[in-house]
Amino acid sequence: MQDSKSAVVIIAHPKPGSITHSIADAFCSALQKGGIRPLIHDLYLERFNPVLEGSEIEGWPENRLSKEVATYQAELRNACGLTLIFPVWWNTYPAILSGWLQRVLTEGFAFGEGATLPGLKLRAQLLLTCGSSHSEKDHIYTDSIVSSLHYCGISDVDIQVKGDVHENLNAERRKSLMEKAYGAGIQFAENLKQG
Ligand SMILES: Cc1cc2nc3c(=O)[nH]c(=O)nc-3n(C[C@H](O)[C@H](O)[C@H](O)COP(=O)(O)O)c2cc1C
Repeated sequence: MQDSKSAVVIIAHPKPGSITHSIADAFCSALQKGGIRPLIHDLYLERFNPVLEGSEIEGWPENRLSKEVATYQAELRNACGLTLIFPVWWNTYPAILSGWLQRVLTEGFAFGEGATLPGLKLRAQLLLTCGSSHSEKDHIYTDSIVSSLHYCGISDVDIQVKGDVHENLNAERRKSLMEKAYGAGIQFAENLKQG
């Protein structure tokens, strides 16, 4: 198992029983089934601090990073996939995920001189839930995050937006969402194994 390929999975939702979390569970089971080791991070559960301080930015060029940021970066260096799972909040992603991107994708690691991340051919998968129906405006939810990933050299970004997601979904719709999330995991695992 130690030598198997891995994907870092970031979950940004405060409620463990949420649909977003159930989608994450289904996706991660599929990854495992597909032979990819999911390195799961529930940012709220980990009590991740999303605030990027000035002192941390000053440490970037010399790579004087906090232990938690260094750990995420080490996992990303060894992974072949990065999955971000989150609800749409006010047309964008939750603040805790915004902070994760700001603190972990540092200069000297993800971009800039000597950056090690772009050369690693990391593939990304975004799994979003939102209350509104699917529309041609879905890209508004992801444009910012996709352009940030592209800036870091991660050009292969698959996006799945699940619309009409509410707390009181009926059993049939919930089942269908979980099947689709499982299918997305199987497909992502296949893509990662192809390199
Ligand atoms: C603070 C907040 C802001 C939201 N903003 C949007 C939005 O801009 N567009 C949208 O379609 N849904 C929006 N929603 C609805 C959520 O996206 C939706 O309830 C969620 O994805 C359902 O998944 P969950 O049960 O896992 O939370 C918002 C919800 C909250 C709590």
